[in-house]
Amino acid sequence: MEVVILPGSKQIGKLAAAAIEELLRKKPEAVLGLATGSSPLPVYDELAARHSRGGLDFSRAHAFALDEYVGLEHGHPESYREVIRREFTSRVNIDETNVHTPDGAAEDLPAACRSYEDALQAAGGVDLQLLGVGTDGHIGFNEPGSSLASRTRIKSLIEQTRRDNARFFPGLAAVPHHVVTQGLGTIMEARHVVLVATGARKAPAVRDFVEGPVSAFCPASILQFHPHATILLDEAAASSLKLADFYRHTYEHKPAWQGL
Ligand code: GLP
Repeated sequence: MEVVILPGSKQIGKLAAAAIEELLRKKPEAVLGLATGSSPLPVYDELAARHSRGGLDFSRAHAFALDEYVGLEHGHPESYREVIRREFTSRVNIDETNVHTPDGAAEDLPAACRSYEDALQAAGGVDLQLLGVGTDGHIGFNEPGSSLASRTRIKSLIEQTRRDNARFFPGLAAVPHHVVTQGLGTIMEARHVVLVATGARKAPAVRDFVEGPVSAFCPASILQFHPHATILLDEAAASSLKLADFYRHTYEHKPAWQGL
């Protein structure tokens, strides 16, 4: 796990976008793993800017979202399919038929989850997966207690997550109780994982998953087993880390050839 502490979300957006740009230049047909929530927005803004400024080309790229609410009709503005389209894919030249989201409106959810896993495999797996983290340590919608080996499936949301996400809905009652999400085992197969966390509210979850034990109780802690996980934090999100100075020192002295 590489922990990089930066002054703010602008710098985080630039660094993550630079890694995605480098990937796309080397591999134009790369498969990107997309996340929703506020944390990845500076990355999407920077990618959109690089696309319109310098012609960063997404025309051959593929994208897979992490998760989706169950019970929202297709086209609902807060469905993750729509959020991903609004915040990112509509702002670059990716072919919308190459953008995939788990189908939370399917009649047969287990079958939809299986076919999502199949589509991921058929595309060759995710090259770079963007992640946020929930205040309870969830990634995707893998709440505490999720199997560390889980695959795409239906899950129930913890009340804390429903409350955290209520800001996107008319009120708490409108937040779905069920979701479909890539499993922790699915996410672990991405070749590079880039997790973004900003703000003091994330500091306890960051402390737990970076420096605590690997445990299903803190799902993001599974990333300690990932061979290429990059954790991008602002100062506030990093404020409870014991080894913050060591992470800063390591990043400052990192050989340039290593990249992210
Ligand atoms: C939702 C998403 C997660 C995201 C989390 C944190 O629960 N399913 O993928 O990481 O929110 O969101 P935010 O970045 O807005 O704090």
